[in-house]
Amino acid sequence: MAEKSRVLVIGGTGYIGKFIVEASAKSGHPTFALLRESALSNPARANIVEGFKSLGVNLVWGDMYDRETLLNAIKQVDVVISTVGTGQLEDRDKIVAAIKAAGNVKRFLPSEFGSNVDRVHAVEPAKAMFAIKAKIRRLVEAEGIPYTFVSSNSFAGYFIPTLAQPGATAAPRDKVVILGDGNAKAVFNKEDDIGTYTIKAVDDPRTLNKIMYIKPPANIYSINDLVSLWERKIGKTLERVYVPEEQVLKDIQETAFPLNLMLAISLSTFVKGDQTDVEIEPSFGVEASELYPDVKYITMDQYLDQIV
Ligand SMILES: NC(=O)c1ccc[n+]([C@@H]2O[C@H](COP(=O)([O-])OP(=O)(O)OC[C@H]3O[C@@H](n4cnc5c(N)ncnc54)[C@H](OP(=O)(O)O)[C@@H]3O)[C@@H](O)[C@H]2O)c1
Repeated sequence: MAEKSRVLVIGGTGYIGKFIVEASAKSGHPTFALLRESALSNPARANIVEGFKSLGVNLVWGDMYDRETLLNAIKQVDVVISTVGTGQLEDRDKIVAAIKAAGNVKRFLPSEFGSNVDRVHAVEPAKAMFAIKAKIRRLVEAEGIPYTFVSSNSFAGYFIPTLAQPGATAAPRDKVVILGDGNAKAVFNKEDDIGTYTIKAVDDPRTLNKIMYIKPPANIYSINDLVSLWERKIGKTLERVYVPEEQVLKDIQETAFPLNLMLAISLSTFVKGDQTDVEIEPSFGVEASELYPDVKYITMDQYLDQIV
């Protein structure tokens, strides 16, 4: 059997990055994480780094803004996965430039991990964020860098515990606020599963130069359906308060960052249905749960059982 590729994660201490580093190390890929020393001064981040050490992850100290350390990290691996966050949106082309200069990378997975940014109908400030991700796609294609764009759709941990109520901190017990009419369908995935699918894709010729959607059939829900499922679990009917689209647009204008970004993403996802309104064409896309039927992904039904 061919050797497993060496994988570098840039942004491994971040929200989604840590799941990807873990999945990579646990599946036997020699795994590298480009880390900033400043991360160690944050106890939560320092803990994540300790976890990496115990998994045998190779820690490479550096910074994506320091070309020398970035190149040094990239030159040690076959696959580069970026999971840098919205704070690094404007500068993601630096990673592309370094990969191009290094010349050894067999697969690049840019920091996407959301909706298919070529097919969204978003308003600001989400529009600009999606546009930058799309710009990076075009740059990667133009540079001829082998890629997989991972369209992981919604992170369960971000949306399921509150049933996608922007700004809420707990699951609803009496009343639930629903954006739009609640009928648009979206896709939710547990973060560990996103890590698992992402790592399965890195050496797979079927995902080369494709968008890999993570869209398992059991995790496609409208918010109305999700609320009904939750109601069955808590044995209670909730008061449903619907916020018309025009009001959501007004709220986005009148709210400060980061809630305005969350609302704008929610409008695209849960009102416009941007995660489910296109068919996956084999010419440009593949679906992860079809490619890897052996992965027993967590369903949102199971997920809700854990928070009930
Ligand atoms: N689908 C969804 O529901 C959803 C939700 C949220 C995010 N996302 C997407 O997921 C992707 C990752 O976002 P996230 O929220 O997981 O990211 P995040 O938590 O903000 O993490 C950012 C990571 O980048 C690292 N980093 C920052 N500056 C760096 C630098 N100069 N050099 C090297 N590393 C640096 C940070 O390291 P330190 O520890 O040193 O700070 C951290 O590991 C983004 O594309 C985002 O849009 C999707």
